[in-house]
Amino acid sequence: MKKITIAIDGYSSTGKSTVARQLAEWLGYVYVDSGAMYRAVTLYAIRKGFISEERFDRKGLIEKLPQIELEFRKNSEGKVEMFLNGENVEKQIRTLEVSEFVSPIATVPEVRRKLVKLQHAMGEEKGVVMDGRDIGTVVFPNAELKIFMTASAGIRADRRYRELLERGDKISYEEVLENVTERDTIDTTREDSPLVKADDAIVIDNSETNIEDQFHIILQLAKDRIAGRV
Ligand code: DC
Repeated sequence: MKKITIAIDGYSSTGKSTVARQLAEWLGYVYVDSGAMYRAVTLYAIRKGFISEERFDRKGLIEKLPQIELEFRKNSEGKVEMFLNGENVEKQIRTLEVSEFVSPIATVPEVRRKLVKLQHAMGEEKGVVMDGRDIGTVVFPNAELKIFMTASAGIRADRRYRELLERGDKISYEEVLENVTERDTIDTTREDSPLVKADDAIVIDNSETNIEDQFHIILQLAKDRIAGRV
């Protein structure tokens, strides 16, 4: 059967990764969470002291980029996890601290170039579902299916807040909302590969739609393209 490339872009906490993962599983495709790659570079930068509330040593980070090795590996339940220089960092990259610094890190063109190169290699043979901010515009501009996901900032912050509470993080809703809106601003206004809807992307606003319905809508769009109906 014909294999296609599926690009899912959109704002943070719109449920991109949930739907991308489900879709990849259903279609037997590879799932790539490109945000996890930016998060892993951010974790590295925090640990090495290149970024903090006080400073951002872009030059220092750029010099060390060749020493950052990223890899996705499947765990025993088949879930893909992020490895940074051989260490499983899947949990560490989801903290609010990493979320706070990831958008500035993602503005660095050298970081983007390195990650886009890795993403190209992962999608070379098609049969891939990749989610992120620039997948349909920069990474795979020829993707057969492009989805652009959005939802109101309040709803997204509420979802993220619940997730973090469930993990046991001590945090307020206001802090999460502030992080969500700040990331929106940085991601949409950065010079290199800002978050924008590709002309041919299909917009899904999931403020009101549940995960199940949304999955079926996107799956149908994918099936139509695989069958050559569109
Ligand atoms: O999808 P996420 O929230 O885990 O992504 C974290 C950050 O990484 C996001 O705020 C912006 C950046 N990012 C990016 O610039 N380009 C991508 N393709 C994916 C993520």
